[in-house]
Amino acid sequence: MNRFLAACRRQPVDRPPVWVMRQAGRYLPEYREVRSRAGNFLTMCRTPEIAAEVTLQPIRRFGLDAAIIFSDILTPLVPMGIELDFTPAPHIANPIQGPGDLERLVVPEPWGGTEYLGEALERVRAALPAEVALIGFCGAPWTLASYVIEGTTSRSFTRTKHFALTHPEAFNRLLDTLADAMAAYLRTQVAHGAQAVQVFDSWVGALAADDARHWALRPASRLLAAIADLDVPRIYFAHGGTHFLHDLVDMPCEVIGLDWRADLERAPRLLPHHALQGNLDPGVLMGPIDEIRRRTEAMLAIAPRSGYIANLGHGITPEVPVAAMETFVRTVQASQTTGFDATPGPAQD
Ligand code: CP3
Repeated sequence: MNRFLAACRRQPVDRPPVWVMRQAGRYLPEYREVRSRAGNFLTMCRTPEIAAEVTLQPIRRFGLDAAIIFSDILTPLVPMGIELDFTPAPHIANPIQGPGDLERLVVPEPWGGTEYLGEALERVRAALPAEVALIGFCGAPWTLASYVIEGTTSRSFTRTKHFALTHPEAFNRLLDTLADAMAAYLRTQVAHGAQAVQVFDSWVGALAADDARHWALRPASRLLAAIADLDVPRIYFAHGGTHFLHDLVDMPCEVIGLDWRADLERAPRLLPHHALQGNLDPGVLMGPIDEIRRRTEAMLAIAPRSGYIANLGHGITPEVPVAAMETFVRTVQASQTTGFDATPGPAQD
């Protein structure tokens, strides 16, 4: 059984599936080893053998229920005309500074320029057992717009808000262009073996609820709706979006990824149509082993009985000890023998 895909569709499972955002990364010694040989993060992304190898590393070590392809939300901006580097923070040499710059942003039709990713997906799919799902991903329009305008990770998003408020039409055009490009990009990922897709809206926490509805949820809905026909589970992860969680009720996706601030016990009442994913605070993995186990069990105790995927509530950080990740994953995997109720809950819609 593929627990992850079943849970996305709110079908019965023997225990909750588990995977972790940023599960392939610097907290793993085997990742750091490959990284030191490859030298450069972008080179790793663009070399299918390497991207496939590091995607598989956490699966081999922990027996996770899903693999997420090793890449970055910013790499598909390159075929759109964006000059990207990681130093190690992302750096864009030619940011969009005004409406006139939008003409520079091209959407390749048909989508092209990320063929390395298709090859990496095929390699991973061929190596994975049928019970382990392969997840593709992209950034959401608001989050990507903030990168192409700011040129790097921002704290205050002043340039992006200045652009959005001063040139509302051009800003909406930018969001729509990014939505359409990412829909095409996800389509190619599914064609090459991705069995589910996650859309990362990492910076919605910078938006007031009403702005989030217009600048984040509207274009993210456009992106998610555009791939409805693919019939693969779609996950929308709005990091920092707890203040408008109720507005996600009609998002055109199967799964809502909850960030670590959200109340997992109340979320099903706000989002009755979706499966839920999350949401242990990644900071908990810096605590003692017994405390990690206790907190993970507490999360499972309040989690929905069906349509639930165990995960952290944001990416795992490089400082996390491997034993801490191991404790989190093993605690979820053991939950079948510690009384997790596998019977589906009442129909929710
Ligand atoms: O989850 C996975 O294991 C798959 C790989 C993955 C990476 N980035 C690899 C990566 C995924 C899903 C991402 C998504 C991503 N990238 C997001 C959304 C997720 C989130 O955290 O909200 C964002 C905002 C980015 C942009 C990004 N990429 C930043 C800001 C940085 C530099 C800061 C940092 O974390 O190092 C990156 C680099 C990056 N992306 C690394 C990895 C493994 C580190 C590269 C290295 O130095 O080895």
